[in-house]
Amino acid sequence: MGQTLTASVQGALYAEYVNPQWVRLLDLLQMNVQYTRCLGAELFTSDGRRFLDFLSGYCVHNTGHNHPRIVAALKDELDRPEPAMLQSHVPDLAGELAERLSARAGGRLTKVFFSNSGSEGIEAAIKFSRAHTGRSGLLFAEGAFHGLTCGALSLMGNPFWRGGFGPLLPEAEQVPFNNLEELERKLATKRFAAFVVEPVQGEGGVRVPDPEYLQGAQTLCRRHGSLFVLDEVQTGLYRTGPFLASHHFSLDPDVVVLAKALSGGLVPSGAVLMSEEVYGSVYGSLHRAIIHTSTFSENRLAMRAGLATLEVLEREHLGERAAAAGAELRGRLRQALSSFAMFKEVRGLGLLCGIEFQSPKQIALRIPFETFRRIHPGMFGQVLVMRLFRDKGILTQICGNNFMVLKVAPPLLVEDSQLEEFVTAVRQVMELIHSSSAFWSEALGLARRAINI
Ligand SMILES: Cc1ncc(COP(=O)(O)O)c(C=O)c1O
Repeated sequence: MGQTLTASVQGALYAEYVNPQWVRLLDLLQMNVQYTRCLGAELFTSDGRRFLDFLSGYCVHNTGHNHPRIVAALKDELDRPEPAMLQSHVPDLAGELAERLSARAGGRLTKVFFSNSGSEGIEAAIKFSRAHTGRSGLLFAEGAFHGLTCGALSLMGNPFWRGGFGPLLPEAEQVPFNNLEELERKLATKRFAAFVVEPVQGEGGVRVPDPEYLQGAQTLCRRHGSLFVLDEVQTGLYRTGPFLASHHFSLDPDVVVLAKALSGGLVPSGAVLMSEEVYGSVYGSLHRAIIHTSTFSENRLAMRAGLATLEVLEREHLGERAAAAGAELRGRLRQALSSFAMFKEVRGLGLLCGIEFQSPKQIALRIPFETFRRIHPGMFGQVLVMRLFRDKGILTQICGNNFMVLKVAPPLLVEDSQLEEFVTAVRQVMELIHSSSAFWSEALGLARRAINI
């Protein structure tokens, strides 16, 4: 065994060899703490503090951190002599996990390609849609987040993510989310292989579409020969209540992409669920049996983690928990926050919730708010996140494509007392924002340090 370095030395090495800017950003936000123990929804640090995780690694930790049953399954797997990966055999656990995912997803989703991440799943969905339709165009929704590889990035309109990385895929076009007219206009050209959409936009601001939107989009896709592809990377695996968010809307998509929570937050993994017809267009003959693969994708650790995660999600009824706790949390937040001028609304499905803030009408609040918005549109949200973290011991983040929305997505096994702790913390920070100059002077200090750093 090599020499074990202390965590602070390892941190310094990270700052030197991996991503110094990330370390500087965490330092600036006073969020660079050393986590030593993470369990369920709780994170403990080397300086004796305890945080509640209301971010879940952007919907990775549906089963909480280091769930003992998933950890035990992985330890057991490591002790087994079967091949972890051979690339020359039939990976049995992949078959078992695929069958379970397909049974839960339902509809036409009877075949599975395993990936290592959400982006890699989106890349596969792009290739498969093109192979199936013989078309090259791709449609995506405004505000979407599908990942940062070149294909996935091509399906995102925000110039912040795209800038400097082009040219991206040609013929990838954006339509407004929750708007069927624009979608139909584009689809009718019959240039598009697929419409790729999140059933609830995560980074776009936890946007839940009108009840008829996704059904309408599916019908239009079928009418015009495009595939209806759902990105359930954040919404899948019981995050919103049912196994897939698409089940809320009785959808029957051609392709569904899963990742994040699939393997208990412990092993990289993703899955692309697709119809028999889509599979046939890609792998339809013997000489195309390995036309799209990925070295690590069906490895036993990831597959075992996936099976154990499904078992935990279902044994502990975490879908039902997400539905009930989510509704309860939104109700309590509404009650606690509705009197604040900067509160706009709380929305979501299951335990994927967003609190939207708005520019205040009172001049005393409006001046500092607009000043900070001009410095950086994310400044208000970031100071809010910092305050919740440092003062209240709660880890959250604002949405990547909508800085006025605080993402609220705790592990699905979050306890009632933890929900209450969160509601109280947000209410207290809102009181501070509305009643004291301390919040705004802190924001100014942060802005100065960000500019000078
Ligand atoms: C909805 C959605 N799709 C795709 C991705 C990309 O997943 P990954 O980071 O695993 O590549 C993300 C990542 O946050 C996501 O939120």
